[in-house]
Amino acid sequence: MTQNNRGGFNSRFGMMMAVAGSAVGLGNIWRFPFLAGEHGGAAFIIIYIAMIFLVGLPILLSEFGMGKSSKGGVVSAFARLAPVGNSPKSKTSRAVWGKAGYISFTTGLLLMGIYLVISGWTLNLLVDSIASGGEQHSVAQITENFNAFTSSGWQPTLYGIGFVVVCALIVGRGVEKGVEKWSKFLMPALFLFILFLCGYSTTLGGWDAAVDFLFRPDWSEVTAKTILDALGQVFFTLSVGMGILITYGSYGQRKENLFRSKVTVTAIDTSVAVLAGLMIFPAVFTFEGLTPTQGPELVFITMPSIFGQLSFGWILSIFFSAVLILAALTSAISIFEMLTTVFIEQFRMSRRRAVIVLSVVLSILALCCANWQSVFNLFDYLTSNILMVLSGLSVALFTGYVMDKKVLRATFTNGGENSVGVYRIYIFLVRYVAPVAITFILLSQLGFI
Ligand code: TRP
Repeated sequence: MTQNNRGGFNSRFGMMMAVAGSAVGLGNIWRFPFLAGEHGGAAFIIIYIAMIFLVGLPILLSEFGMGKSSKGGVVSAFARLAPVGNSPKSKTSRAVWGKAGYISFTTGLLLMGIYLVISGWTLNLLVDSIASGGEQHSVAQITENFNAFTSSGWQPTLYGIGFVVVCALIVGRGVEKGVEKWSKFLMPALFLFILFLCGYSTTLGGWDAAVDFLFRPDWSEVTAKTILDALGQVFFTLSVGMGILITYGSYGQRKENLFRSKVTVTAIDTSVAVLAGLMIFPAVFTFEGLTPTQGPELVFITMPSIFGQLSFGWILSIFFSAVLILAALTSAISIFEMLTTVFIEQFRMSRRRAVIVLSVVLSILALCCANWQSVFNLFDYLTSNILMVLSGLSVALFTGYVMDKKVLRATFTNGGENSVGVYRIYIFLVRYVAPVAITFILLSQLGFI
């Protein structure tokens, strides 16, 4: 396949929805609202937004810039943009950086194993919600069912493979007819469902308490740890550190204004995270004895136990499961597309064959993660704590110090059409601020600080 006939996004809106689809995931729903509530409400949100501008956006822009200027997936982007020339220094640099993309590729592969299993849980939630007919179940019962489901192994495996098939059918159609077309439909649907559930939440007795929990600024809660948590969340929620945005950038349009479109994407991502808090916490605060939690427990146990007690709970539970599935699906599609592009480019496969091979590999990974908790935990540890961060660091260092600045600048300014001021700020942040911040994230994830 040559670089020219690899297809690409056909509209700015479609591309934006695809990028937002990758960014908006379970992290927005089960992690951000809790972090904000626990760490000082509006105070946390302000710090979080500052971190987006100081660290998240620069890396997001770097990934996109690499994709846009190389027109290649994550592995070939590094290889094509590595220094040319025959001096020993260039040669070593080319040899090292030419392989750097494989860190991101591996991160995506392992993360997908975990993501598929959790996506399988969301499918199961939908099936359970529909089957329950709105009947009320106690927390103990729900916990028992959930544990029985996850420990059965084969059930999550089957659901996970179901997810692989859906991703394969979408990605197999190519970027425009697959990822773009479906993101344009799935993301607005996700947004509408969340708005609907938020609207319902305003009628609940716990609304005021939830708004207070999420937004009341409390600067006394803010510590160095808060800033680190905000940084970690920014990194995770924007889906950087896996080369997905390099891949999407490579399928983008030449004339795109990178800065403007990426600010929009982060705004969408943050809005969904805040709305998710307004969707979830009013229900939690409505019932005595329940306190906000995060992670799988919040969405797979606490929330299902609440729906049975609300009017129209059955419908709400179905909508809620749909929100989780859509959030998981659009993110899974983005990893699938990134991996597919690498298979096409590095292993010289057709898209069809790449998708088939990848589906088999991913099904095996999902099977391992669903059946062996130790594999799940290992993949989780390696990806979230080490690989993702290293991959982000490699992107920041590569664009900040290695890549030809003329090329980078031309990519950002569309060959001089857009102002160079934003580019200057970006390059400063990506050289001096982002690498330091990422190193702090790494040290904190590894438990050193
Ligand atoms: N951004 C996703 C979320 O907020 C999680 C995520 C991190 C992700 N890296 C990713 C999703 C890469 C897809 C691809 O939940």
